[in-house]
Amino acid sequence: PGIATYDPGFVNTASCRSAITYIDGDKGILEYRGYPIDQLAEHSTFLEVAYLLLHGELPTQPQLDQWTHDVTYHTFLHENCKQFIEGFRYDAHPMGMLMASVSALSTFYPDAGTIADPDVRQAQITRLIAKMPTLGAFVYRHQQGKPYVYPDNRLSYSANFLAMLFKMSEPTYQADPRLVKALEVLFILHADHEQNCSTNAVRSVGSSQVDPYSAVAAGVGALYGPLHGGANEAVLKMLRRIGTVDNIPGFIEGVKEGKEKLMGFGHRVYKNFDPRATIIKKACDDVFEVTGVNPLLAIAKELEKIALEDEYFIKRKLYPNVDFYSGLIYEALQFPPEMFTVLFAIGRTPGWLAQWSELVQDKDQKIARPKQIYTGARNRDFVPMHRR
Ligand code: CMC
Repeated sequence: PGIATYDPGFVNTASCRSAITYIDGDKGILEYRGYPIDQLAEHSTFLEVAYLLLHGELPTQPQLDQWTHDVTYHTFLHENCKQFIEGFRYDAHPMGMLMASVSALSTFYPDAGTIADPDVRQAQITRLIAKMPTLGAFVYRHQQGKPYVYPDNRLSYSANFLAMLFKMSEPTYQADPRLVKALEVLFILHADHEQNCSTNAVRSVGSSQVDPYSAVAAGVGALYGPLHGGANEAVLKMLRRIGTVDNIPGFIEGVKEGKEKLMGFGHRVYKNFDPRATIIKKACDDVFEVTGVNPLLAIAKELEKIALEDEYFIKRKLYPNVDFYSGLIYEALQFPPEMFTVLFAIGRTPGWLAQWSELVQDKDQKIARPKQIYTGARNRDFVPMHRR
């Protein structure tokens, strides 16, 4: 019955052709549309990077102005969205609420399923990028038991997001521009990463030609897991559990004995260093200049130092990944740990949509339907209940 290659986890299987993101894991290179990540993080804005991922070129000033206008125009949610967010328990995890809310959005835009029409596709892309921060802020406010703060469209993408989260609790709240910049950098670093687990989920679900809200909801679900986007939350919990620098050697021994993983370390593709981790480490210093140093930073730095000199991690080519330091920044920005992956999801949305858009326009792409190697029984006769 045909030839099947057994490749659990798709370690050696290319599922698509893509012109969006280039990674060389051995050399620690990450490029969006050919532009190195460090240059984009330093010089660009998140909306400019989103445009680049979606359209393949950096926008001209009029193109960027139009794109910024379009995204800003769509930041508000339908009022009914508040009602389904209110249906969640006060202690519901924000990622669970986000996943459900994104999929519910598909019901507000019934035309979204007409994915063959480029104008319809662009409208949903704009809506999703515009509404993700609003949804993220609303689920946070719900969890905190605080009233929702509507978008302030005079502000930039990231400044507006911070205002929707924190403004009402502090009426004088004005995000420090250095913190807004740090959040922009984090969003840019997370914007795409070729065929990672959540993007593969978006492509796989999108290959059935469902609307993009349903496909992106699948991406949010994949990102929720602790081996993927959930790692940043897990890192903070781990650092807190370690508690003091003196406890690090004992913790490392436990990792080497296989009791648990060193969260924020290791990557399927990067076997030398994760270029995003290097940029984040620098952003950490900028943020702590404003907020004061997070005491967990000392534990993280010592943990990194010890692990990088240890034979176990050297042999397996395990290095800090993007999630090792990002949680420390998010915490300094006043986010509770369960919001960290929501921030990752907001950043990754343009990447998911660029990949989805590429998929639905690719004439070679078929519905995702991997083979299996069947290992079960065959040809058994039904056994009536009284004889089992
Ligand atoms: N701590 C301890 N040992 C590890 C770790 C770790 N963090 N990561 C991998 N290993 C070991 C693993 O046990 C295996 O050892 P052995 O050869 O003795 O069996 C070896 O290294 C190879 O690991 P693998 O599981 O085959 O690697 P993978 O490519 O399947 O997994 C990974 C990649 C990211 C899931 C994994 O490194 C991991 O679980 N890391 C911790 C979670 C984490 O930080 N995830 C965030 C990833 S980056 C952002 C994102 O994708 O969201």
